[in-house]
Amino acid sequence: MKKLNWGMIGGGESSQIGPAHRLGAQADGNFVLAAGALDVNAEKGRAYAQSLGVAVDRAYANWQEMLEGERAREDRVDLVTVATPNSTHFEITKAFLEAGFNVLCEKPMTMTVEEGEEIVRVAEASGTICAVNYCYSAYPMVREMRQMVKTGQIGKVRLVVANFSHGHHGDASDADNPRVRWRYDPAMAGVSGQFADCGIHALHMAGFIAGDEVRSLSADFASTIPSRTLEDDAMVNFRMEGGTVGRLWTSSVAIGRQHGFDIQVFGETGGMRWSSEQPNQVFYTPVGGRTQIIEKGESGLSDEAARLSRVAIAHPEGFPLAVANIYVDLAAAIRGETRDALPSATDGLRSMAAVYAAVESAKADGTWVDARPPMLR
Ligand SMILES: NC(=O)c1ccc[n+]([C@@H]2O[C@H](COP(=O)([O-])OP(=O)(O)OC[C@H]3O[C@@H](n4cnc5c(N)ncnc54)[C@H](O)[C@@H]3O)[C@@H](O)[C@H]2O)c1
Repeated sequence: MKKLNWGMIGGGESSQIGPAHRLGAQADGNFVLAAGALDVNAEKGRAYAQSLGVAVDRAYANWQEMLEGERAREDRVDLVTVATPNSTHFEITKAFLEAGFNVLCEKPMTMTVEEGEEIVRVAEASGTICAVNYCYSAYPMVREMRQMVKTGQIGKVRLVVANFSHGHHGDASDADNPRVRWRYDPAMAGVSGQFADCGIHALHMAGFIAGDEVRSLSADFASTIPSRTLEDDAMVNFRMEGGTVGRLWTSSVAIGRQHGFDIQVFGETGGMRWSSEQPNQVFYTPVGGRTQIIEKGESGLSDEAARLSRVAIAHPEGFPLAVANIYVDLAAAIRGETRDALPSATDGLRSMAAVYAAVESAKADGTWVDARPPMLR
């Protein structure tokens, strides 16, 4: 099958998420890195792109140049990944969608709900794919949990409990480190710190597995390190459209917790749990029965989990290959197949609406607030 041309904006040499995208996009032979504006520093970005094999005329100085250059080509990129800092996502994603490019945007997709709605509208009007990198939903065993819910194996979901709590910003003496400080500064991060950074991954996964969408929420935000304006810890209770009850704790001061992303889903006839630090196993307990460990790669998994596992049972695949699974689904979608598990611009919009609802609720002592985007009410 013909490879798809792929372009990347951001994700330069020492970036955090760039390597996972490069490994992920190219892991299965679907995409080839054909163009890039990889760094805020034009010369560094051009040099790094060429070192990765990008032709000199497609190693662009900035995203505007890349848009003009690619628009004019017959072999223009089939997909653009936006992996720049949050405040730039909206402008770049919108411009590429309007020009007819498919986009995979990093989370959070936008900084406001209005911008999120605009992205959904532009993607619809231009007939392009706009996906958002909720990559944890692409772990094979998370897909297995989703299939278990879909096929009724735990009955109707009553309760979801999700945590995304780590301790990597818990050292008060490091709070002024510029790489840490911006995350809690509204001028750089927007209206929310930890909830918008990590909490939305957990909220997306709750809806993804339960097959439900958040309707309303009540939030308690805390800046446990007093110099921080935005929250470094949040507890969010939520209710979903289909009646599922949700509890979510997200923190960056939980010293001793490392990645700290785990989820428990409790239904009428069973419960299950999964952790990103032990991603190959789902612990499943039928009501009145013993706990079973369902292992990635074993026989009897759903087609969805099986098709996204590459290496043999008990061998780790991990984070970059979860990102690769997003690209597997994107390649299929670009080639015209339906992929309903691909996190969409609507998912990105729902997250932003939840962030604004949580901020409003936290300011009003936890008052319950409608968490749906206006265009989806
Ligand atoms: N999905 C996930 O699990 C996950 C994990 C980490 C980060 N992220 C997201 O990825 C994005 C990037 O985060 P990061 O941690 O890699 O940041 P980073 O600061 O480590 O890297 C950002 C990169 O973008 C480049 N850049 C900045 N402005 C640019 C511009 N205008 N044009 C081109 N390049 C530009 C920088 O030079 C750098 O190479 C953020 O939105 C973040 O929320 C997502």
